[in-house]
Amino acid sequence: MVVGAARPFRRRAFTVRSPIPVVYGIAGFGVLLGVVGLVLKVRHHQHSLVDTVLGGVGGFGFLCAGVVAHTRQPANRVGLLMVLVGTAFFAEDLQMSGIAWVHSVGLLLASASSGFTAHLILAFPSGRLGSRLARLLVGAAYAAVFVLAPATVLFGVTWPTPNLLLVVPDAGVNAQVGNACRILGAVVAVGMVAVLLARWVAAGLPMRRVLAPVFLSGLVGGAGTVVYGVLGGADPVLSASRWVYQVAFCLLPLGYLAWVGRVRLGRTALGSLLGALREPLSPSELRAALARALGDPSLQVGYWRPAAEVFVDGDGRPLAMPSAGSGRAATLVERDGRRVAALVHDAALHEDGHVLTAVTGAAGLALENQRLAAEVRAQLAEVRASRGRIVAAADAERRRLERDLHDGAQPRLVTAVLSLRLAQQRLDGVADAATAALLANSAAGLDAAIVELREFARGIHPAILTDAGLLPAIQALVERSPLDVRLVAAAMPRLSPALEAAAYFVVAEAMTNALKHARAEHVRITVEHSADLLRIDVTDDGVGGADIAAGSGLLGLLDRVSALDGGLTVHSVPGRGTSVSAALPRGSGGNDPAPAGRP
Ligand SMILES: Nc1ncnc2c1ncn2[C@@H]1O[C@H](COP(=O)(O)OP(=O)(O)OP(=O)(O)O)[C@@H](O)[C@H]1O
Ligand SMILES: [Mg+2]
Repeated sequence: MVVGAARPFRRRAFTVRSPIPVVYGIAGFGVLLGVVGLVLKVRHHQHSLVDTVLGGVGGFGFLCAGVVAHTRQPANRVGLLMVLVGTAFFAEDLQMSGIAWVHSVGLLLASASSGFTAHLILAFPSGRLGSRLARLLVGAAYAAVFVLAPATVLFGVTWPTPNLLLVVPDAGVNAQVGNACRILGAVVAVGMVAVLLARWVAAGLPMRRVLAPVFLSGLVGGAGTVVYGVLGGADPVLSASRWVYQVAFCLLPLGYLAWVGRVRLGRTALGSLLGALREPLSPSELRAALARALGDPSLQVGYWRPAAEVFVDGDGRPLAMPSAGSGRAATLVERDGRRVAALVHDAALHEDGHVLTAVTGAAGLALENQRLAAEVRAQLAEVRASRGRIVAAADAERRRLERDLHDGAQPRLVTAVLSLRLAQQRLDGVADAATAALLANSAAGLDAAIVELREFARGIHPAILTDAGLLPAIQALVERSPLDVRLVAAAMPRLSPALEAAAYFVVAEAMTNALKHARAEHVRITVEHSADLLRIDVTDDGVGGADIAAGSGLLGLLDRVSALDGGLTVHSVPGRGTSVSAALPRGSGGNDPAPAGRP
């Protein structure tokens, strides 16, 4: 898990600061060399004005960009590398000096800046070389400019200023070592172009924005070096590739400085974010506003759920934190020491640390509000689920009770009645009148008990609902009702047990109420179903005035229907009848249809 803190003080906690400002010292020395180099170039008369100006812009550009980069991120090596490139670039001009030892040192450092440039391009923007290939290429580049190129100095005669490091004057060896150096440079350049292309393809939008100046100049400079390495030092090729290289060389620091400027200007994006935050935003609108402000369309927002210790997205789904090396990073947002959210974004945004800090700071309150809303939504979903489970468990218990009564108590009572009737027959004419009456009363009492038990069991959970389904169960209710009831319903498939039970109890309770309270004569029951909704409506023509809060029957229906994400409405105007309607989503209460019959 890569988690960076949005607050700057945490960054600083890991910053190793050198007691001596080494980078600024080198930059100062580089400026000195730059002035000397420019004077030497002007005096040397062999450099055109454009060449001198381009060199100056490139060299001082690197020194300036390096100081800016180091000041922004002291722990990042990019600043140091830029300053080294600028300083080495000017040191190369020392070979134009008329003083023998200065001239000789200049010869040794004749292509020093290329090594640092290769290192900088491959290490940009983190300052670290990310792969073994990158380390190999940088090693080869340093070997070319600090071993092979200085080796030519041992064999090369220079005039008019003598080369103090000359060991054996040998133009042949000098040329051969020079060629080897050139070819190694071309190989490194090909590798660099390949690495840059691969990185560009793999990078997201924010990383591409950071990489653009380096990518452009690395590509142009690399292509120039390859052409030079392959075609050799023939004059037109040499001068053309030198031009290309010089322009690319200038582009890199200028491009970097332009990017830093844009990042700073990017704070105006914060202004529009602040404007957007004035209105209440939905989770997706807040995500979009943050993505715009950070320039990262792939941004994800995770809200912290302390109870579950996970981040969840706007819809309450768990959001995984990115793993190291995935190219994505998470920035934690905290308020008053409490974790609020995590922004999961392109790892390149850490290069715009200031913008990230500003954006997370500005959006802290909105994120906190969304976190609380997400928490409430998640709790609501849990409550709904648990209410559904409670209703389902109660229904299961009712079915069990009805079965126990049906399969246990009822057969025993029926057997007892039959035994009594048998005893009655056997004692017919034998027993005295009192005993015969006692037997007859007992049998009648048991018969009544059986009827009552059946009614009771039906009230708990009608067996016909489980066995035959919703419409036959409602039909049975209609047939037993003393009222004039009209049922309007089309044939329908079996639904889930919870859905059938809810619909049945709506009809049963509304019919009982019509009989008990309404003094109604007619009742109309409508059952409609579509692919996604089951609608029940029970309307009586009674006295009206039903009050959902006055008893437990209608309230129980409301709970039952709500547990299935449905809605219950009661329209009851005094003197104008009562209508109880329920709308139940077909997908609620589980998708399994009820079994076709009892085992
Ligand atoms: N169809 C109706 N016509 C007139 N009044 C009604 C009707 N249905 C309900 N009521 C009134 O609304 C109240 C609440 O009804 P509800 O079904 O919730 O409770 P109940 O029938 O009194 O008791 P329970 O259903 O728990 O046995 C009733 O007491 C009754 O006064
Ligand atoms: Mg009632």
